[in-house]
Amino acid sequence: MSETFNGIEFKGFSKLSFMQRLNKLLESESITQEDYEFLKSGGLKSVQLGEKFIENTIGYFQLPIGVATQFCIDDKEFFIPMAVEETSIIAAASKTAKWIKESGSITTEVFGTEIIGQIQIAKVKNLEKLTTLLQARKKEYIQLVNKEVVPNLVLRGGGVSDITWRVIDRGDGFQMVVIHVMMNPCDAMGANLINQVCEYLKNPLQEQSGEMITMCILSNLVDTKITQAKVQIKVDEELGLKIQEASLFAELDPYRAATNNKGVLNGIDPIMIATGNDWRAVEAGIHAYACREGRYSSITRWRYQDGTLEGVFRAPLIVGTVGGVTQLHPMAKMSLRMMRVQSASDLSRVAAAVGLVQNLGALKALTTVGIIEGHMKLHIKNLTLGAGATEAEIPLLETKLEQFLNVKKRITLSHAIEMLQEIRTSQRM
Ligand code: MEV
Repeated sequence: MSETFNGIEFKGFSKLSFMQRLNKLLESESITQEDYEFLKSGGLKSVQLGEKFIENTIGYFQLPIGVATQFCIDDKEFFIPMAVEETSIIAAASKTAKWIKESGSITTEVFGTEIIGQIQIAKVKNLEKLTTLLQARKKEYIQLVNKEVVPNLVLRGGGVSDITWRVIDRGDGFQMVVIHVMMNPCDAMGANLINQVCEYLKNPLQEQSGEMITMCILSNLVDTKITQAKVQIKVDEELGLKIQEASLFAELDPYRAATNNKGVLNGIDPIMIATGNDWRAVEAGIHAYACREGRYSSITRWRYQDGTLEGVFRAPLIVGTVGGVTQLHPMAKMSLRMMRVQSASDLSRVAAAVGLVQNLGALKALTTVGIIEGHMKLHIKNLTLGAGATEAEIPLLETKLEQFLNVKKRITLSHAIEMLQEIRTSQRM
């Protein structure tokens, strides 16, 4: 299987220097000349930009951004920009993606288009009158908000499509009504739009129903728009069954499910951050969906049969490629360009695929060599920095730590500090 992108050889990308990596990305037209200059200068913008995004700005918190390579999703090659602080996530993603590229496939799909806005009537006074009104006027309300609040969305093929409601028994003798406003946000994540739609409906609804609306806000549990990623890969029976057992562990035990899903989000969050998306919203949606059967469970599922391992990720993954800071933050714009995603759905499919691949990488390591081997090898550099090694001392300390890890199968910061002392003592002699 080829390791080229746009005709440029990408084998050994991780071994290249920083400048060589930028050159490769430029040569393969994954980034523009402007992106290249921006990255070369450290990828920082003046503090004025930060001032525009948030309040009381005092600077930037910098995260490294890297690219995961080897991804072939729906038969298309991708570079995945990932902004993340944790060692080994990008390496594991690329390594697992390469394995899948050689022996399997990644396919994705999105089911549904609508996001949900909620309008709460905390204590309904006359349920029958309210539901009669909603039934009679729902079309009128939909037309009203589409004309007054989201006309541009309607022009782009989206807008509000339906209004539904649920009655919740409060257990105190009263009933709560929750109205759901369904809206297709096209390529926006849609939070601001749906919130405005719901707030716009507040007055007519209150006036016409005589009910008191308590609050309006979007829901992050968007079970009406689900992104699916599927991995199929040829594996030997032993490995296939081990991964299936690991999957069952996470499906049946919430304690394991939390860690499993954290591993999935290791793949998703860095893409959300790199593209300027609201990763808290994505996290909230995924965790809530993982609880939909009344108990927190795994968001992925792996099964082995007849030489093939199949994994599925299915969850709400509501993102935008327009709106928010996606087109304002230079790094976000560059990341979206680099992935060549055409729409919000495309971005959610890529993120779902990377989350599932990350999960497979973790499960493979956990059920075979254990997590320490790969993770700690890559973490050694952090330990040398933590111990206070200078540029000149880092290679010596790295070698010592690697040797120690190979023999003892464990290393901590205290080991690094001790070994640095030994190096310094031996150099003084
Ligand atoms: C560590 O960041 C992620 C893992 O714990 C995920 C998992 O246990 O599946 C390795």
